[in-house]
Amino acid sequence: MKLVRGTSSPEDLKQLVRLETVCFRHPGERFHARQIRDLLENPRACVRFAREGATIAGWAVGLLRRHGPRQRSGRLYALSVHPDFRGRGLGARLAQDVLRRLRRRGARTLSLEVRVPNPAAQRLYLRLGFRPARPLPDYYGPGLHGLRMRKSVRPNRRRPK
Ligand SMILES: CC(C)(COP(=O)(O)OP(=O)(O)OC[C@H]1O[C@@H](n2cnc3c(N)ncnc32)[C@H](O)[C@@H]1OP(=O)(O)O)[C@@H](O)C(=O)NCCC(=O)NCCS
Repeated sequence: MKLVRGTSSPEDLKQLVRLETVCFRHPGERFHARQIRDLLENPRACVRFAREGATIAGWAVGLLRRHGPRQRSGRLYALSVHPDFRGRGLGARLAQDVLRRLRRRGARTLSLEVRVPNPAAQRLYLRLGFRPARPLPDYYGPGLHGLRMRKSVRPNRRRPK
């Protein structure tokens, strides 16, 4: 399966809204149409799709943040894989692809938020080297708690291919 740069055609947008709906039970956890469109148009966002023909099987979004003139951090902001395509390493590939690009753009720390419990995602993030950093009570809505996870990396400023 190919990982490609995210695009924002009306068909892509429609598929991403469906993907988020099928992947997240609680509306507070998923991205909605306007947020998705904003992410696709955000120059600080790195958006990657896993495409099987015309179908978007999964997507991941990373955000780069500047702290002063030199410091940068990256955030894995979205990750979802359609249930039909799970368990084949696609989630890991998408996450790694985005994280590598954030590192190449100078991110020295990486962070993400995940709902608790979400064993599949947490296991994936632990495997990628993230560690629990801070509980986020009610982050996704009342009674829907989150966890911030972090990872430190050595900077890597080579340009992505
Ligand atoms: C999390 C998600 C992206 C993983 O996608 P994927 O393509 O299945 O990911 P991978 O195949 O790379 O790896 C999945 C890992 O989770 C594990 N896993 C799957 N279901 C699990 C479960 N119910 N409990 C524990 N681990 C589970 C797999 O065993 C695998 O780990 P391993 O390789 O160490 O055995 C996918 O499950 C998903 O889209 N979930 C819904 C959306 C979501 O929660 N996104 C994360 C938001 S923070």
